[in-house]
Amino acid sequence: MTASGTFGYGTEYSELFDIQRLGAIICKGTTLKAREGNPQPRLIETASGVINSIGLQNIGVKAVIKEKAPIWAGWKVPVIVNIAGFSVKEYEELARLLDGVKGVSGLEVNISCPNVNEGGTCFGESPDIAAEVTKAVKKATSLPIMVKLTPNAADIVAVAKAVEDAGADAISLVNSYKAMAINIIERKPILDNITGGLSGPAIKPLALAAVYEVAGAVKVPVAGCGGIATAEDAIEFIMAGATAVQVGSATYSNPRASLDVLEGIMSFMEKEGIKGLGEIIGAGRNQISNLKNQKHK
Ligand SMILES: Cc1cc2nc3c(=O)[nH]c(=O)nc-3n(C[C@H](O)[C@H](O)[C@H](O)COP(=O)(O)O)c2cc1C
Repeated sequence: MTASGTFGYGTEYSELFDIQRLGAIICKGTTLKAREGNPQPRLIETASGVINSIGLQNIGVKAVIKEKAPIWAGWKVPVIVNIAGFSVKEYEELARLLDGVKGVSGLEVNISCPNVNEGGTCFGESPDIAAEVTKAVKKATSLPIMVKLTPNAADIVAVAKAVEDAGADAISLVNSYKAMAINIIERKPILDNITGGLSGPAIKPLALAAVYEVAGAVKVPVAGCGGIATAEDAIEFIMAGATAVQVGSATYSNPRASLDVLEGIMSFMEKEGIKGLGEIIGAGRNQISNLKNQKHK
């Protein structure tokens, strides 16, 4: 899959390569009203990654339904709409509006947004509030829902379990890690928003550990995301327990990174004599428990 916010609405890439071969496209985070996002500067390059504070710039749900969904309806590749609200009611409304819309195959619930009713703390940092959002969305739609976790939660496994109990059909992780950079000559933060979210190769080992822990704690499928740029990266996430992967920032340096990853996974499977992906999902976990068992012997 393509990770939300890094692949627009899919339409931007349809001329560059055969996007219909992808597993799914996840569109830019969609809010009730169109948003211009945060003032510049809002994207900076760091060693092995980028920090962004885009602030959910998007065309709003009504335009998505009117202008994008009819295009998606003619595609073979399923499109999942990433939704973002600033209150539980907003999430519910977004889910209700998108329910039954042709061209929309599922929802990814981005719970990394600030909750205006709770002093701006992020929904995804509290298991209870994350569960409340999940329940509200689930009730408002018949579409499958995947809840996207923030790695900035104190206990991401507790949040994962809470959203699973609340009815999430799948879980994706991770969103970007809170980060910042300072201009030492001007003596001020580089981003206008002060902090942003770090993504790219820098976060891969952190994201992998989070996926490993969450996949070991829930029964629903997990989609791994964070610094995946090659098939080898993706296979690590799959072996950690992910059923699917999302490619994000890698698309900036290689627009067809998502398809390269997919093709690379297929070559790896062929080379290793793997008949179905199921054979390697969580394979890295079994290895570890085997080793532990051996030690006990
Ligand atoms: C510029 C940019 C915009 C993003 N916008 C969204 C968004 O709207 N909704 C969302 O859930 N995640 C968003 N993300 C997070 C990515 O989907 C992904 O979770 C994160 O970047 C980690 O994956 P990566 O290291 O492969 O980029 C954004 C990331 C970037 C770099």
